[in-house]
Amino acid sequence: MFGGLSGSRLNVLDLDDFSKEEIEHILQSADGMNEVLSRDVRKTPTLRGKTILTLFFENSTRTRVSFEQAGKVLGADVINVSASASSVAKGESLLNTVRTLEAMNIDVLVMRHPHSGAPYFVASKIDAAVVNAGDGTHAHPTQSLLDLYTMRRHLGEIAGKKVAIIGDLHYSRVARSDVWGLRKMGAEVTVCGPPTLLPYGLRPGSEQAESAAFSDVTVVDRVEEALEGADVVMALRIQRERQDSGNLPDLREYSKLYGINANRLARANTGALLMHPGPMNEGIEISSEVAHGAQAVIEEQVSNGVAIRMAVLYMLCARSRGGE
Ligand code: CP
Repeated sequence: MFGGLSGSRLNVLDLDDFSKEEIEHILQSADGMNEVLSRDVRKTPTLRGKTILTLFFENSTRTRVSFEQAGKVLGADVINVSASASSVAKGESLLNTVRTLEAMNIDVLVMRHPHSGAPYFVASKIDAAVVNAGDGTHAHPTQSLLDLYTMRRHLGEIAGKKVAIIGDLHYSRVARSDVWGLRKMGAEVTVCGPPTLLPYGLRPGSEQAESAAFSDVTVVDRVEEALEGADVVMALRIQRERQDSGNLPDLREYSKLYGINANRLARANTGALLMHPGPMNEGIEISSEVAHGAQAVIEEQVSNGVAIRMAVLYMLCARSRGGE
């Protein structure tokens, strides 16, 4: 029912090491998970006896709650630890914290951390499977999977579709993982944002090499050009908490030049999807009118996040079930 996912993958840290087939398997498995979620009694014993621990060093609403819901629907025990309420607040190191938690026999550690690479370090030190729930400005692979799943449900095939990603690409871990996933699935990706919020290698006149994630995207100056003929428009959150001073001097100016509003969205293809990873700064990167309009699938992204995270937990726990 859940797509026969093999249990060979140890961790989910980003989508750069996923094949197209592996992504397809997870999306198919999420279809089965959505069937479970549509039942009157939304509970299966599939992961009974497994323990999933969420450890978040940064705030989260969607990701943390959806992992908790995903684990509970599958029958696992789910323990939530927030860094501020843990011994981290007393000065314990990240390594000692995760080793302590692993000593309690967890099967999967879902972690969010402000430092890019932190989940990779943890994955190299513990035996439990690690899921990166967002590390600094680097990656957010399950967000990318739920974005791909939402696109596929509406558009069918993702290959050949034009996806415009607009805004704060420099600080966006969602954008990096989305670009990996979209390229693996054969989409054409166009990006647009203020030069100071583009990844270094994409900035005009930059002599720095483009990062591998962005090596095959089209960069345009004007948002109107990016949206022309798009099948999917993805607005990114302006990450005010990560901005160095001077990166974005004026939010009103940003909104005027790059904000997604009804006039701009009209340049996209008829029936184009409007997406946003959330949380939104309404009135800045996206107008309230379009954020809650007919083309927006933003709430559906959140719902699909539960099915995708069920598929990911199921896949990782297959390893400790001895594979299937
Ligand atoms: N999209 C996302 O990661 O949202 P949260 O910060 O609420 O988890």
